[in-house]
Parts: sequence; structure tokens; C-alpha cells
Amino acid sequence: MNKIVAITGANSGIGLTAAQDLARQGFDILALCRNKQKGEEAVKIIQAENPAIKCELWVMDLSNLQQVSTVAEQILAKYPKIDVLLNNAGYYPASITYTGEIEDTLYASHVAHQLLTLKLLPALEASGEGRVINVSSMAHMGGKVARFFQNTKKPSHTQAYCDAKLANILFTVGLKKYLASRKSEVTTYSLHPGPVKTNFENNVSGVFRFLITIFKPFIFIDAVQGAVASIYLSSAPLNEIKPFDGQYFIKKRAVKTQNRDITPENVDWQWKKTMEILQSKGFAL
Ligand SMILES: NC(=O)c1ccc[n+]([C@@H]2O[C@H](COP(=O)([O-])OP(=O)(O)OC[C@H]3O[C@@H](n4cnc5c(N)ncnc54)[C@H](OP(=O)(O)O)[C@@H]3O)[C@@H](O)[C@H]2O)c1
Repeated sequence: MNKIVAITGANSGIGLTAAQDLARQGFDILALCRNKQKGEEAVKIIQAENPAIKCELWVMDLSNLQQVSTVAEQILAKYPKIDVLLNNAGYYPASITYTGEIEDTLYASHVAHQLLTLKLLPALEASGEGRVINVSSMAHMGGKVARFFQNTKKPSHTQAYCDAKLANILFTVGLKKYLASRKSEVTTYSLHPGPVKTNFENNVSGVFRFLITIFKPFIFIDAVQGAVASIYLSSAPLNEIKPFDGQYFIKKRAVKTQNRDITPENVDWQWKKTMEILQSKGFAL
């Protein structure tokens, strides 16, 4: 039986490239995409890489927690065993909007991925080698926990993106702790893909836009290079990556994170706060 990987944002950029590679390696692919048409096109591209695998589209918008929960339950009912969850989807916000007190980039990139992960956990635990991979960014360096989960100080677009990427790292560390408390064999990793030429830059403004314009011709890599860490962590033998459980990767190496807000206290605080948000919305986890 083929291994199964579920990938959010599998229709574009790093997610699509990782899906194509993992399909060539013989993984079945669950493509979790918010846009049905784009998802269907991606499924054709991924399937063409290897007719022997199964690639299936699940329409899931991470800004809609109810949909995330419903679709995750449907996936779980159909697939009692999933080997890899690649939480890849993310975006630089075109505008700053809120759902309640939560800035929407943080809501879709972090809160929804925590919900998805916890919903799919029984299937990942059934794998024996289950792993959860969270695509963060070097932009986590600019994140600040003090801005999380409150709408009193509106962040800039860049700050909102950096906050979401910091939250992906705090989630990874928190998830490792949670999995240990369950005596779970699932492992988890975060990563920075590098500066990659994808659709990501479409919304980028301010300082990021300036940096991209200046450096794009020199340092930006293509999606094949940008997907290296995602593919490696999805497919490497478990004994090779398990010693780095909970850690942050660039390419195939675990490296130090760069933000003083990454503390055990903040990891616990974010985990608890996110669980409170999810439970207040009626999700039983
Ligand atoms: N490119 C870079 O330089 C770079 C650097 C560091 C980190 N990253 C991270 O890498 C990841 C992948 O980005 P990329 O560069 O491959 O960009 P991309 O080509 O724009 O792909 C982003 C994917 O996320 C999906 N997505 C966005 N919002 C979503 C939502 N609410 N619900 C479901 N899916 C959603 C997009 O769907 P649609 O196609 O429907 O919009 C798309 O499939 C992101 O987490 C990004 O933060 C990228």
C-alpha cells in the first residue's frame, strides 16, 4: 500500500512541487486546496507524474474553521491511516482583517492548521511513522507574540505575515510537547523553504516588496529548490529525522530559530490560547 501525504495549498508553488515529487516517489496525495478549479488542475498535474498513485482533491479553505473540521472528519472516515501532514498553505496578506480578535493571517495559517492537525491525528498515529511538517519562514524573525490574538494594535501587512510564521514554529514545539504527553509516535518539524519564486509575492507590499524587487534576480530560487525541506521531511527515513523532532529546518539541516519570543512559556501560552479559541467555537478536540 502506498504511503499517504495530505498537503494544504497543494495547487501552487512549493506545495504543488512537493506533491509532484512525492507522487513520483510513490506517495498517494490528498490535495487540500481552497479553490476547486485550481485544485482540479493541480490534481491532473500531480497525477500525470505517476499514474500508479492516487491523487485526490479535498476543497478546504483554511479561513473557514467549520469547513476545515468537516472536511478533516470526512478525510479521517475515508483514510484511517495517513503518513504525512504537510501544513504548507500560507500567504502574505493583501489587507489586515480580523475574525473576532484574531488577525486573519494568523487565523488561517496557524489556528486552522492546529485544528486540521488535531483532527487528523488519529490517522497520523495509525501510520507508525506519522509526521506533521509546518512550512514556516525565516520571516518568523519579525514576529511578536504580544500582537497575537488581540485586535487593539493593528499590525502592518509584513508584521501580520511574520506573526503567522512565528506561530507556525511555536505550534511545532507545542505539538511536540502535546504528542509526548499522549505517548504518540508522531513527530513534527517546521521549516524555511528559502526565498522562492512562486505566487507568494503577488500580495507583498512595503519592506518585503522592496527587498524582493532588489534581490529577486540574485537570490530567489525556483520551487524545486524551495521544496527540498518539505520533500525531505516528508520522505526521509524516520530514524534520520527523529533526533530533530520539533526542530526547524532549512534544506536538509536542522538550524536554530531566530526569535527571542520562542520560549517554553510562549509555546504553552499559544497552545492553550489556540485550544481555547477552538473549543469556544465548539470543536471537540
Ligand atoms: N515563496 C517564498 O519565498 C516563501 C518563503 C518563506 C516561506 N514561504 C511559505 O511557503 C508556503 C507556500 O507558499 P508558496 O511560496 O508556495 O506560495 P503560493 O504559490 O502562493 O502558494 C500558497 C498556497 O497556499 C494556499 N492558500 C492561501 N491561503 C489559503 C487558505 N485560506 N486556505 C487554503 N489554502 C490557502 C494558496 O491557495 P490559492 O492558490 O487558492 O491562493 C496556495 O495553494 C507558505 O506557507 C509561505 O508562507 C514561502
